[in-house]
Amino acid sequence: MNTPRFITPEIVSHVRENYQTPVYIYSEKELRERAKDFLDFPSAYGHTVRYAMKANPQRNILKIFDQEWLSFDASSDFEALRILASGVNPDKVQISSQELWVHAQELISKWVFFVATSLHQLEFFGKNFPWQSCGIRVNPGVNSWAFAKIATWGATSSFGIWHEKISEVKALAQKYDIAITKLHFHIGSENTPESWVSSAGLGFDILRQIETIDIFDMGWGHKMAIMPYETSADLQAIWEAVKKQFEDFYSETGRKIHLEMEPGKYLVINSCSMLVEIQDIVDTGRVWFTFLKTNSGMNDMPRVAMYGVQEPLFVMNNSQEYEDYVVVGHCCESSDIITSKLYDAETIEPRNLRKASIWDILVVDGTGAYNSGMAIKNYNSFPESWELLLRENGEILEIRARQEVEDIWKNEKEII
Ligand SMILES: Cc1ncc(COP(=O)(O)O)c(C=O)c1O
Repeated sequence: MNTPRFITPEIVSHVRENYQTPVYIYSEKELRERAKDFLDFPSAYGHTVRYAMKANPQRNILKIFDQEWLSFDASSDFEALRILASGVNPDKVQISSQELWVHAQELISKWVFFVATSLHQLEFFGKNFPWQSCGIRVNPGVNSWAFAKIATWGATSSFGIWHEKISEVKALAQKYDIAITKLHFHIGSENTPESWVSSAGLGFDILRQIETIDIFDMGWGHKMAIMPYETSADLQAIWEAVKKQFEDFYSETGRKIHLEMEPGKYLVINSCSMLVEIQDIVDTGRVWFTFLKTNSGMNDMPRVAMYGVQEPLFVMNNSQEYEDYVVVGHCCESSDIITSKLYDAETIEPRNLRKASIWDILVVDGTGAYNSGMAIKNYNSFPESWELLLRENGEILEIRARQEVEDIWKNEKEII
């Protein structure tokens, strides 16, 4: 594939004329299509799709998904405040947070759903909101078959209540007269169909122990391919396999369990491309490397430095010649690499790209998840970049202005 997913030379010209790079451009079409992928698949007794808004909390993305009938999972009470500010109905929001909520009273009184991710959080809920219902996030102790940086399972992970502590959960529920109505699992991203089925089995074991649960939130991520060597999760195949487990559980217990799931990356990753400029080309001698230096990097796109993942790159010119380049970001950090070895963020790996010149535009595809939302904000005092939305009718609209440089230090208090 030699052309970007949705960026055309016309879009590049439009951006060059009207904005300064770097810019993120989102495709409304891609966002709506991915949301629709989840609507009609085979759940046994109904399903709810919660967008894991941590992947990208841009207000317009939240609004598009709200229009496409998705619900939401927030990873902190601050994320929940953010989504409520965008006009989403509070009863579509749940919070499963590593941190105890600061705004619990306000949010629970609006019917935002509380998922306790530790026994301490459960006790907090019981003490402050007796006779109400909540969910529990459990660490099922299984391998998600994903690479370590995105796995949130097993004995090395602090996420969720350890699966052997269900009797303590039940004791707290009894003590405070709270109903546990939802089981939430998140074993990490990029699971295989086998890991879905085996982890679902562990969930049903917990459902057998807590009879008040009628929702099983299988909140782990779905793989979405961005590089040509990757394969996306086959949603239909996964859910056909999992559906049978829900039906078997009903035959065994008479309980019809509602399914929830929490895609993040799947919904947004391919909806965004970043346009950056090649500002310099340097080399380390004939036998070593040629580097393309860009005007963006780990501050806008931290995913490579964070996880050592690879993103598709396109030099936007008509050259028929190709060369091997190491592409790097503009931060004063040796780890600001855009072409790293897969899952090895510290090791550079040259990529074969169209022969580039200074001032060419480089398109970085697959940047919609865990980039803008996870940005290493203002490192080296680089302002936050513009965000644009390519509407379905072809219009390009600004959805976030570029940060003014003065805004970077506006909260500092001068006392010297
Ligand atoms: C609780 C929870 N749900 C859902 C997700 C979504 O995962 P992904 O973006 O891989 O789909 C995450 C991501 O880490 C998460 O922490």
